[in-house]
Amino acid sequence: MSLIPKEIVDQVLNQADITEVVGDFVSLKKKGQNMWACCPFHHEKSPSFSVSPAKGIYKCFGCGKAGNSVQFIMDVEGTSFPEAIKYLAKKYSIDIPEEQHDPEYAREQSERDSLFIVSDFAAKHFQQRLTSHEQGSIGQSYLKQRGLSGNTIRKFELGYSLDEWTDLTDTALKAGYQQKYLEATGLTIVREDNKKYDRFRGRVMFPIHNVSGRVVGFGARTLKSNDKKSPKYLNSPESDIYHKSNVLYGLFQAKQAMRMQDMCYMVEGYLDVLSLNQGGIENVVASSGTSLTEGQIKLISRYTQNITVLYDGDAAGIKASLRGIDLILELGLNVNVVTFPEGEDPDSYIHKVGDAAFKTYLKEHSQDFISFKTSLFAKESAGNPVRKAEAIKEVVASIAKIPDAIKRTVFFRSCSLIFDIDEQVLISEYNKMHLEGRQQQRPGNPEPNYAAPAPAPEPEKPASDADVLKRYEREVIRMMISYGTKAVDENQTVIQYMLEQLEDVELEIPIYVKLHNRILQQFQQGYVVKGEDLVNDPDEEIRSEVIELISNRYDLSHNWETHQIYVPNEEDLLMYGIERAILRLKRMKVQMLLKTEMEKLRLVTDPGEQDRQLNYILNLKAFENQLGEMLGIVVNK
Ligand code: UTP
Ligand code: MN
Repeated sequence: MSLIPKEIVDQVLNQADITEVVGDFVSLKKKGQNMWACCPFHHEKSPSFSVSPAKGIYKCFGCGKAGNSVQFIMDVEGTSFPEAIKYLAKKYSIDIPEEQHDPEYAREQSERDSLFIVSDFAAKHFQQRLTSHEQGSIGQSYLKQRGLSGNTIRKFELGYSLDEWTDLTDTALKAGYQQKYLEATGLTIVREDNKKYDRFRGRVMFPIHNVSGRVVGFGARTLKSNDKKSPKYLNSPESDIYHKSNVLYGLFQAKQAMRMQDMCYMVEGYLDVLSLNQGGIENVVASSGTSLTEGQIKLISRYTQNITVLYDGDAAGIKASLRGIDLILELGLNVNVVTFPEGEDPDSYIHKVGDAAFKTYLKEHSQDFISFKTSLFAKESAGNPVRKAEAIKEVVASIAKIPDAIKRTVFFRSCSLIFDIDEQVLISEYNKMHLEGRQQQRPGNPEPNYAAPAPAPEPEKPASDADVLKRYEREVIRMMISYGTKAVDENQTVIQYMLEQLEDVELEIPIYVKLHNRILQQFQQGYVVKGEDLVNDPDEEIRSEVIELISNRYDLSHNWETHQIYVPNEEDLLMYGIERAILRLKRMKVQMLLKTEMEKLRLVTDPGEQDRQLNYILNLKAFENQLGEMLGIVVNK
């Protein structure tokens, strides 16, 4: 990770104006001292997302997300701290010197820029041909016949390539674009005898954008219904700006909706993306006919952890793509699937039944992937014990990919019901499989039972639960006695806010319980306890702890610490720090409770009681995930 110089971080923090930064993503309205909008991080109808220009922070009173400009970019774009700084540096034209001084890097950057620029030119050219060239009407009538509106065509910047050999190449060269860049992006093909011609001719053009909206390549559909000689779709070749395994068609247009709906629909084709968009389903991306890659899944996981795969209605295709889905599970995301009637794909089906019926269909036919796969195999192997054994192995292999022990438990349960076999059979199959897999990596390594809630000791985090809890409790107490009198907003002080937030949290470490009680008592009598006062407290234990607390600096973000990036003054980010301290403590409490409840689950034998306990655990788990997301932690990894 590149180290961004402190001066740059300072400069960015100084110059970044929170209303400008946030204003690029949502439209803010002034009300009182703050600006308000509907939250970009969760779905809502009335605005509870506020921006305080004076404090330089945003906060959502609905979902709890809060922070400064940098945090906002990290949250909204799903990027790391350095990337967010780079984004803001670019927005405010602040140079990051390090990279400019490296001539090799600068050269690569400008080469890549040239590829972006020529791709952008081509996209505009194809658009112009579609809308304003006489041949464009062929493309237009094709798109119309496919049911696409002018709006959709514009939103996705669709175009048309003339059915001529060198229309694009000639126009581009004449406009001063260099042949080498036309060649490098695959737009122009140069034969051995040096004859040049356009790759895309007589096709509807679908520009492919990267996450930040720049054109990196094209998909292009022939208009001929069954031409055996040329492929239905032609695609740009890989280039320095187009790596197929790291691009998803439609992601740029979908990312906002993906975050808001907390869900991503995955389809196969360009037309599926367009038709669903037009029908009001905007959180949709296409794998463009290939199987999903890790890079693509990680892109999605910046915005949501939930993927619903929409399958074309043919059984062979489904079987073939099951493996790809295991990869999604392995990366810790949740997968649901929807299948369509034989012969239909999402595009044809939405046109057949209409937008509203299509949405209902999605709701009613969405099922989790494991159950889907289990049913599929259970049906196939019914009455054939040998095939059933294979089927069980298949399904257990998928479950084994899921990194989260609790989710695995749930799936073993539902899977045992569908196959009508004892859960223990699945579990021992799992243990066998897991053992084999691990032994290949590390011979002789004993493997814990599946249900153990992942106690695997992580070398970089040797702290016990008790240590962590102590640290988190200490942090909230420290914040209260250091900043209690500061204002959260016009009508609330930090101490008020924190006491309120901690109302339903029981501290456990005796000294902090004592301090918390002291603070609360005093507050109820109208005083805000300060660290400086407690230094002279008659209670020896309180005295020494408080001296420790107010003299030592505990960093408010481990992230920033570990990335060796300049940590801004704590008071600059006070609200942010307070929020995080509270969230961390709450999350830790929930995690500890989860462990106890998992233990209990193992001792319960009554099925009804088991279900209740499992439900309770799932609720806790959801709460834990929610807290994790608020903290910007990628859940289940
Ligand atoms: P399909 O053959 O299912 O096409 O390919 P489609 O999306 O339903 O297209 P229409 O409705 O006939 O226009 C699915 C995806 O596979 C890729 C494309 O990305 C396509 O959208 N594909 C397909 C190719 O790259 N090349 C091909 O020749 C065919
Ligand atoms: Mn189709």
